[in-house]
Amino acid sequence: MRLSVIGCGYLGAVHAAAMASIGHEVVGIDVDANKIASLSRGEAPFFEPGLQEILTEGIASGRLSFTTDVAAAAGATVHFVGVGTPQQAGGYAADLTYVNAAIDSLLPHLAPGDVVAGKSTVPVGTAADLARRVSGTGATLVWNPEFLREGWAVQDTIDPDRLVVGVPAGAEGEHAAETLREVYHPAVAKGTPFIVTDYATAELVKVSANAFLATKISFINAMAEIAEVTGADVTQLADAIGHDARIGRKFLGAGIGFGGGCLPKDIRAFSARAEELGRGESVNFLREVDAINLRRRERAVQLVVDALDGAVFGKKVAVLGAAFKPHSDDVRDSPALDVAVRLHGLGAHVVVTDPQAIDNARRLHPQLAYEADRDAAIRDADAVIMVTEWDEYRRELSPAHASSLTHGRVVVDGRNGLDAAAWRDAGWSYYGMGRP
Ligand code: UGA
Repeated sequence: MRLSVIGCGYLGAVHAAAMASIGHEVVGIDVDANKIASLSRGEAPFFEPGLQEILTEGIASGRLSFTTDVAAAAGATVHFVGVGTPQQAGGYAADLTYVNAAIDSLLPHLAPGDVVAGKSTVPVGTAADLARRVSGTGATLVWNPEFLREGWAVQDTIDPDRLVVGVPAGAEGEHAAETLREVYHPAVAKGTPFIVTDYATAELVKVSANAFLATKISFINAMAEIAEVTGADVTQLADAIGHDARIGRKFLGAGIGFGGGCLPKDIRAFSARAEELGRGESVNFLREVDAINLRRRERAVQLVVDALDGAVFGKKVAVLGAAFKPHSDDVRDSPALDVAVRLHGLGAHVVVTDPQAIDNARRLHPQLAYEADRDAAIRDADAVIMVTEWDEYRRELSPAHASSLTHGRVVVDGRNGLDAAAWRDAGWSYYGMGRP
């Protein structure tokens, strides 16, 4: 099938390459000429495991191309829209500028029977508005939210755990759903749940899934706060409650909390939309989820300050990690980088290292010092803080090796990912999040 993908960011570029990898003919379209030039050369413009391979393969096969010219969408049967919906400047709501612009630019190139499949995360009610605009062309709008995780994006796109499509009522909607079943044929054939629903439900499935995940993380971080004043260990607590299959251990990792381009802005946009709908109180808890999350960054900073006897001014602090999570170079709303910035603000000599995210981090926070080499970053440090649980830090950095490099013996584990006993045995003062 011929497909177009409007927006070639973390979502769209992966979607375009993944759809080509399962046999479709795909054109990826973006207004950013640099991004398109890099994708056209077959170079992934960001780090995402597996993307480079399917990009190279797609371009070599002739099935995958990229352009800045939206007219190239003409002739495609399905047009995916995967542009960003960032948090509005000065508010909590989602900024729909890019979604509206993408749809407007697409309208002249749509033909009757085409399907426009929105993938961006939008406030509930957006699809119904956009459908009115698309309907004049004879094309059908559907909402097909995306659940991919950065770092696993290729696998999550090709082999998702569920597919959700919000369609209009009647034969037109049924036909559009059928078209999407064809697009996702390999996943559908292996029995992946394929849920056909209305627009509002599809939009809400996406935001409620992210709200639930954020709530789960803040729940365990709230328990970490209680553990801190009672001497309990939140990691053992998470293991113990996680054995209850109704609760489950996943997303009960206490630490410096969630960040990235999705969870923080999605829960805020959800709150803002619920207020507009007169149901603000239904999701008031999300404000608490946000507040708990942000407190944990401050807590990590405080642990460093306390460990260095109340003063970090002039002390060297090595910050292990800048990405919002491992296997990603994304630093959007990264808790790791926020901790580094706060320590820098207190006068510490902060040196940040990360296997993938240094370039992005430097663009955002040029005031920090960066060191690509992990060992150079920790050399002569008074304290080390691990804030992104890359294997390079969690598994591969032995306390004995670290001891041979650093000045001090203070380690703060912002992700509760280090072996506390091993670090203590090697003579380090180990501080976890919500652990004695
Ligand atoms: C999230 C969702 O997990 C995806 O399902 C969704 O499709 C995506 O947002 C999106 O809306 O596009 P992602 O932002 O890639 O995916 O990251 P997550 O794996 O959800 O992690 C988010 C943050 O939570 C990270 O900063 C991570 O370090 C943190 N986290 C995660 C914890 O602090 N504790 C945990 O136990 C798990």
